[in-house]
Amino acid sequence: MDYFTNFFWGAFPWLAIAAFFVGIFWRWRTDQFGWTTHSSQIYESRLLRLSSPLFHWGMVFVIIGHLMGLAIPKDWTRAVGISDPAYHLIATIPGTIAAAAVVLGFAGLLYRRIVNKSVFLSTSRSDKVMYVFLGAAILSGTIATVSTQVFGGPHGYDYRETISPWLRDLLVFNLHPETMADVPWQFKVHVLAGFTIIAVWPYTRLVHAFSAPVGYVTRPYVVYRSRDQRATDMRSHTAWEPVRNHRSQLDKSETPSHGA
Ligand code: HEM
Repeated sequence: MDYFTNFFWGAFPWLAIAAFFVGIFWRWRTDQFGWTTHSSQIYESRLLRLSSPLFHWGMVFVIIGHLMGLAIPKDWTRAVGISDPAYHLIATIPGTIAAAAVVLGFAGLLYRRIVNKSVFLSTSRSDKVMYVFLGAAILSGTIATVSTQVFGGPHGYDYRETISPWLRDLLVFNLHPETMADVPWQFKVHVLAGFTIIAVWPYTRLVHAFSAPVGYVTRPYVVYRSRDQRATDMRSHTAWEPVRNHRSQLDKSETPSHGA
């Protein structure tokens, strides 16, 4: 097996997964206030109201499709009575509709970002990198589906014999790079583009995908804090006081020193 096969289908996906987790951890530790969509709705909302739901709802179905196609082995779908040709239709028709929604939504978001001056000016360098890599993953996935499944004959390309078992094995450290060697180029490009956007994900505004407001369910409606009795040396603008949460800070505040 040659060096490139080993690298692209053995090492690269794991490097991307590692970059993802390191990035999430780093971002969480250093930039929780920047963990946001950096919404530009204030600059333009008409196009955003159309393109954003189209893109996000399309992505929801694309993700469901990926989980079905990549995680569930063929034997399982057969066992519940779904034949292979039926599976092919179930995957291809909604998959293509979802891809069309994602591509249209993405194009709308991109157009708005370039044409609306205020939105353009609020676009950072990391946004530009993100648009390129996300666009590559979306376009290559759509090209792979349309060229091999829609126009690839009655049965299409059966990625559940190659890409899906390769990925499941890879994720349990059972590397079989050779399984990917004869996969059509469209899918090779797409899998590499997919892992690349996974690698850069946490370093961009895409982190907002992992900020479900789960804590809202259990948190109190309003958070009250009682004033620490020992912190008697309060200046008039209490809001500017440093947070007193460290033992040494609390101890220092017991011996008042004005202007500290
Ligand atoms: C976050 C990264 C990714 C994005 C944005 C993405 C996007 C897409 C899109 C838009 C499609 C076409 C619509 C569809 O059939 O669902 C697609 C298809 C596909 N993608 Fe991805 N993808 C990503 C990552 C991956 C990865 C990592 C793999 C495999 C390891 C993969 C494997 C596939 C396969 C096998 C199809 C064809 C599905 C079918 O035709 O039934 N994708 N992808």
